[in-house]
Amino acid sequence: MKKTSLIILINLSFFAGSAVMANEIDSRQQAYKALGASDFSADRGDTLWHKNFPDPKDSSKQRNCGTCHTDNLKNKGKHARTGKVIDPLSPSTNAERFTDPKFIEKWFKRNCKWVVGRECTPQEKGDVLEYLRDK
Ligand code: HEC
Repeated sequence: MKKTSLIILINLSFFAGSAVMANEIDSRQQAYKALGASDFSADRGDTLWHKNFPDPKDSSKQRNCGTCHTDNLKNKGKHARTGKVIDPLSPSTNAERFTDPKFIEKWFKRNCKWVVGRECTPQEKGDVLEYLRDK
């Protein structure tokens, strides 16, 4: 292979790699606005993140987003049911966070259902991402 084509190849893979790693928070929020959400608030996201909801099977117990992700988002979390380790949610600690729209939506759906008892609205998801983006 000629040296120039090798250089081009290396450059191309570099750009492909950085495109995959790009933080998807802005484009998710744009998509939520297209679904009717208005401006996003980190404070509202913070409130929802820490809000306690009753465990539907045992009203003496409560759940919130930190039940698995802990209250220090730079730390590893632990799944409340399976005990499986969850990598830090903080994008400054974990560059893989919020890089895949399908992954983001899949886990919003599951986790909101488990904690809140329903899916989160586009407004709520955008607020939570606004809260999480600087963590
Ligand atoms: C029962 C445990 C559990 C609870 C409670 C929980 N999560 Fe999660 N969450 C997970 C797991 C497991 C993953 C996927 C594994 C991973 O990301 O390492 C995840 C991933 C996510 C992701 C995807 C992150 C990314 O990299 O794109 C988001 C967003 C998220 N959670 C938001 C929430 C919100 C909002 C709440 C509260 C409503 C919440 N989670 C509560 C277990 C939980």
